[in-house]
Amino acid sequence: MLIVANWKAYVENLEKAERLVAVSKKLLRTTEHRIVLAPPAPLLGAFAMKNTSRIAYAAQDVSATTGGAETGETTAQIYAASGATYAIIGHSERRAAGDTDAIVAEKLAHAIAADLTPILCIGERERDRDGRYLAFIREEITAAFTPLTSKERSRAIIAYEPLWAIGKTAESAIGSSDLAEMVLYIRKVLSELLPGKNASHALVLYGGSVEPGNIRDLARATGIDGFLIGHASVDDVMFAALTKELS
Ligand code: PGA
Repeated sequence: MLIVANWKAYVENLEKAERLVAVSKKLLRTTEHRIVLAPPAPLLGAFAMKNTSRIAYAAQDVSATTGGAETGETTAQIYAASGATYAIIGHSERRAAGDTDAIVAEKLAHAIAADLTPILCIGERERDRDGRYLAFIREEITAAFTPLTSKERSRAIIAYEPLWAIGKTAESAIGSSDLAEMVLYIRKVLSELLPGKNASHALVLYGGSVEPGNIRDLARATGIDGFLIGHASVDDVMFAALTKELS
């Protein structure tokens, strides 16, 4: 399983960041799961540059620009040079701040060009009875993938994060049968966009109120390859507990 800890802007000091990194290192001694930490940019640099552990680091976002006279922007290239190997792209909180499908597609291409493994976030705002949310998911993936070559598309990890499930508690997350259905659907869409057997090899993660209380259920028989975890990833006790639940 791939466990991605999205620290968002929850972690604002070095002491807390150090504690979370130490917990991850300790967990990696006893688990086969892969841990990817996504700290805010300056903290990512502080840890990823001198990283000698099995922890991998992800940018929470990358700039839509490619550098130059762009005050305040952090490009994919800078993240790669700082030791990141993954990049979260199109998170719903970035989309809410103005990232359109076109911007997400551009960021995805920049991440791939900088040799970062992109984690493309998709997810419907709400579920309707007519299944329009399925068409929405298809459109989000298609819009992001269309400008890419098939080789580039094959590098992307998909993180399914329904907006209605983000930032709540385990009870509000998706149920395991709904998740299993969605993973199948995403793979079907991927099979139309990726060559050969690549769709079955693509990693699909789930995010949205993953906590120690539901992670085991969500991992069991849903076809999911890992999780993108927000609030529970910045609480060292919860993060250790949910990783252990997967063992
Ligand atoms: P959450 O956030 O785990 O706090 O719901 C997940 C995410 O937004 O990536």
